[in-house]
Amino acid sequence: MTRALLPGSDLFPQPLEQPLHPRSQATPLDYTVHLKGVTKVYPQTKFGLVDVNLRLKQGSFLFVTGPSGAGKTTLMKLVYGAERPDHGEVLVAGTNVGVLRGNRLSHLRRQLGVVFQDYKLIPRWTITENIAFVLKSQGIPRDEIERRLRPTLKLVGLQKRADCFPSQLSGGEQQRASIARAIVGSPKLLLADEPTGNLDQENALQVLSILKKLNNLGITVVITTHDMHLIQVAQAPVARIYNGRLHMVNADKTA
Ligand SMILES: Nc1ncnc2c1ncn2[C@@H]1O[C@H](COP(=O)(O)OP(=O)(O)OP(=O)(O)O)[C@@H](O)[C@H]1O
Ligand SMILES: [Mg+2]
Repeated sequence: MTRALLPGSDLFPQPLEQPLHPRSQATPLDYTVHLKGVTKVYPQTKFGLVDVNLRLKQGSFLFVTGPSGAGKTTLMKLVYGAERPDHGEVLVAGTNVGVLRGNRLSHLRRQLGVVFQDYKLIPRWTITENIAFVLKSQGIPRDEIERRLRPTLKLVGLQKRADCFPSQLSGGEQQRASIARAIVGSPKLLLADEPTGNLDQENALQVLSILKKLNNLGITVVITTHDMHLIQVAQAPVARIYNGRLHMVNADKTA
């Protein structure tokens, strides 16, 4: 059974598997995400990422921005193992994602949640079923699933929509449901690829506020966005991809 992975998180209060150790100096394992000289160029288009280095400590919050086609989604895919680097290493919590296959990749993916611009909810399932499926597929018992559903729905403000189908929800609500699905497994890391791309400003800010709340619970959050207003409001570190290279835009508080 998957236990809560978040030290200090009160999303699903339960005993921690491991005690917390005070840490003075960062070691490679302290980075939730660590990209070392990562290059990924798609052979068909010759576009991609070149020599990307990035270190995110547990509990970081990072925006990744850049023009369309810059490589933001590619960066996310490398982190959740949907693409493999041509060169370099992508480490998530110390594990080299680029060499994982099969069960080991599935296991790693349980430690991270992914949110997409178009929500990717299953239309014929209720919101509860969409969220619970993640836990069911991990063999988590029904009572544990029930125990987790309520606080998760509450966190995204969807308690009253639990039995609705996605088509009965607004875009903002669907995105909040997809965030609930991404976090119900207590991930250490949440990757949100243009999560507000289809939303108006009010809904975008609501999604940001939820992502900030999750970050305050200890989850490392990476968001790709074009939305400069969102970035200004959030006052978080920003990295920009340009010409295939990733640069920190403001003070690097992440490494
Ligand atoms: N499967 C693929 N095969 C070939 N080229 C690809 C593939 N996926 C992405 N690319 C190319 O790699 C570049 C980066 O794509 P990516 O989707 O990462 O950009 P992005 O920054 O997410 O853009 P957007 O803001 O439009 O979502 C683009 O030029 C794209 O055409
Ligand atoms: Mg993209």
